[in-house]
Parts: sequence; structure tokens; C-alpha cells
Amino acid sequence: MADTYDFGLVGLGVMGRNFILNVADNGFTAFGNDLDEEKVNALIDEGGDTSKVNANVDAATFVAALSTPRKIMLLVPAGKVVDIVIESLLPHLDEGDIIIDGGNSFFTDTDRREAYLKEKGINFFGAGVSGGAKGARKGPSIMPGGSREAYQYVKPIFEAVSAKYKGEPCVTYLGPKSAGNYVKMVHNGIEYGLMQLTSEIYDLLKKAGDLSNGELHKTFGTWNEGRLQSFLVEITSKIFAQDDELGDGQLVDKILDKAKQKGTGKWTSQNAMDLGIPVPTIDIAVSMREISALKDERIKADELYDRPTPETVVKDSLVQKAEAALYFAFIITYAQGMHQLADASKEYGYELELGEIAKIWRAGCIIRAALLADITEAFKADSELPNLLLSPSFVSKVKETVDAARELVAYGATNGIPLPGLSNALTYFDAYTSGRLPLNLIQAQRDFFGSHTYERLDKEGIFHTEWE
Ligand code: 6PG
Repeated sequence: MADTYDFGLVGLGVMGRNFILNVADNGFTAFGNDLDEEKVNALIDEGGDTSKVNANVDAATFVAALSTPRKIMLLVPAGKVVDIVIESLLPHLDEGDIIIDGGNSFFTDTDRREAYLKEKGINFFGAGVSGGAKGARKGPSIMPGGSREAYQYVKPIFEAVSAKYKGEPCVTYLGPKSAGNYVKMVHNGIEYGLMQLTSEIYDLLKKAGDLSNGELHKTFGTWNEGRLQSFLVEITSKIFAQDDELGDGQLVDKILDKAKQKGTGKWTSQNAMDLGIPVPTIDIAVSMREISALKDERIKADELYDRPTPETVVKDSLVQKAEAALYFAFIITYAQGMHQLADASKEYGYELELGEIAKIWRAGCIIRAALLADITEAFKADSELPNLLLSPSFVSKVKETVDAARELVAYGATNGIPLPGLSNALTYFDAYTSGRLPLNLIQAQRDFFGSHTYERLDKEGIFHTEWE
């Protein structure tokens, strides 16, 4: 058994088990490891032939079973567990071995681990894996960052197991250090934005157009055949068709309206603030999960304040405008995320190629969408593009859809339907595309009360005025 298995994986939860079976399906031999004997046995049972898929609970024999340089992926919860697993493996590893953290680790943790392991001659990769349990089994999008030289050993396996977009693997080497985890973090920030926007459009269609779940199912289904084609729109359509097994009607109506979060969206926003890059549609998506958690307060406040009864609008025209507005806001959300990646790349020395990132997001991951093919093309045409809104190919897409967003935001405001993501996307667009903003007044105020100085439009230099 010694030295024979191509790939090792620690953490045989659903993701780990599915990933390892995917590796085996693609002709590689794989060995799993978990402290939980039940999970180990479950994998052995499912794997069938132990010369192809095997597993155990002991770190030493697990490591010894792998061919060198060893390629060991961790699919364990982000945080302390990653450090504990690394420590348990370390005494058994040899120089040149490779550890890949496939979880949603915070990128600075990855930098710390990479530096620590480098001293010991071990290569460390932070590799975001997107696509949920099904993706892990059938082909996820994988976002690896770490040593470029060591990537050659991982590449054949990752390319084989990843999702394919028109035959192209949805994985590529992204950059050094924590580049992979950073890109996955922003992926999740975008995911938060798209999910928030989808939920707002659902609310609008229901309250303003009185669409039933059946109609919502059809509407999102039709949208998924057009320019909005995406995993999230597809599953949204399916959600409206799911009957409630425990009662009447559809399940969606019985689900508590409090959205949880594991933190990756919040990290995206926090880091964007640190970088000074505006990602307000992602920020508001995080805030909305926080507002949703205040259910008891919301119920009390609901009783205190009147809200207009939404004026019913013609279904067909509402559906048409909602489709355009959602498309517009999806573009804005991707634009913000890509903008953050461009800046982070400079700040952290990742040397990211945005076109390559859009490319590996075209299939397998949660934010996969037809739009990503267009985003890939936009960055192929101009790899230095600072913002998608500046891409000639996106100008027409935005021009065609922005008016629908304006109309619906105005409708939402007048009729008391909260559309924070959509209005935010629109405001971001209006601000980003304004050659002149009123922030000259802020500079005047700062100089007025704090002598913070200002610059002028018509003269070079730094000025201060003794304001009256
Ligand atoms: C993916 C997802 C995944 C994430 C979930 C839940 O790409 O497969 O992003 O990594 O864990 O989306 O995230 P929240 O619990 O924060 O919503």
C-alpha cells in the first residue's frame, strides 16, 4: 500500500467524500483520512475497490500511503482545525510535499500558513472550491493559489476533476500566496450580492405583480434561458416549484426569513473598505442578512409604521422590467467584485489575470452565469480594464437595462418595497459614471472645520482658506 496513492484528502464530510470520489472517477487513486471511523468506513464502502479509493483514521499511515511529492488536500472547517490538521501531518511529511487547503480560509491565515510551511520545505496552497456538494462530486470550479512550481504536480488532478466549460477546465493557477483564497472570498461576496438581488426581484414580482409561486417558477425558468442564464436563477426557479412535505403549498413560503452567513461576504466587504474600493452592492447584501436576523424587532417595528399598499402593475411589463433590472444589477455586482480583485492584485502582489478568473467561473461555481463568458471576453480585450463599466462591450448592455432599474427603484420607494441591492447598484452606477460629484462640498467642509486643505479644478497645488 505504501507510496501508491496519487492524492490524499483529509476531512471526509460530504464535500471531502464527494471530492475524493470525483478524483477516483477521473482515474487517479486516492486516500482519505478522517478522525471519524464511520466516515472512513462510509468512503471505503462507497469507493468499492480499495486499491483505488481507500481511507483511514491515522495520519502516519495515511501520509505513508501517498506517492511523492505528496498532494494532500484539506476539506475541513476554516479556522483552527486547519492548523491542527497541518500539525498532525507535519511530522510525517517530506520536503517538497504539498498541502492544499480547500476550505474558505481567511486569506491572511493562508499567508501565515504558507510562510510557516515554506520554512519547513512544504508547499502550501489555498484553493477555493466552489459548487457545493454536487460540484465537488461532478466538477467544481477550483481557485488555487500558492507556489507556481509546485502547481505542476496538482494541475493534472485539478484539471481532471474540475467542471468544464466547453471542454476547458474551470481551474487555473491564480497567483502566489493567498491569491486562491482571496479570489474565492470575492466570489462569495459576488454570490451574496446576486442572491440579495434575486430575493428583491422575487419580492417585487410577488408584491407588485401578484405572481404566484407557479408563475415565479416559470418566470425565473424563462429568464434562465436568456441573458440571465445562471446557476442562481436556475435554482431559484426550482425553489418555487418545491412542495412543502410537511404541509400545504410550497416550501419557500414556510421558510423563516432570517439568512445566516459564514462570513466570507462580510470579509469581502471589510477588505474592500481596507483597500478603498467601493463594493456597495456586496456591502448591502451583508447588511440585509444582518437586518434579516432582527426578526423580532422587525415584527415590532412593522406594527408601528404604516406602509403603502403596493399599487398593482401589469404583470407582463413588470416581468420584462424586472428581468432587465436584474441583469443590470448582476453586471454591477460582477463589476464591483472584479474591481476589488484588480486592486487587491496590486496591493498583495497576486498578479491576477481577471480574464482567467472570469473564465474559471463560467462553470462549476455558484456564481456561474452566461454573463461570465462576456466578462471573460471584456478582460481578454483589455487585461488592464479597471472596471467592467468602462468596457465598450458592456456599455450597450448597461444602457439597455438601466432605465428598467430606475423605474423599479422608483416604484419600490413609492410603494414601500425595500430594494436595497437594486437601488444600491443603480446609485453606484450613477455615481461611478458622474464626471462631477458634489464631493467638492465635503472638501470645503473639511477645510472649513479642520484646515484639511483642498485641491482646485483650475490650479495645481494644495490650498487652504480662512473660511468666514
Ligand atoms: C461555494 C459557496 C460556499 C459557501 C456557501 C455558504 O462557492 O460553493 O460559496 O463556499 O460556503 O455559499 O456561504 P454562507 O453561509 O456565508 O452563505
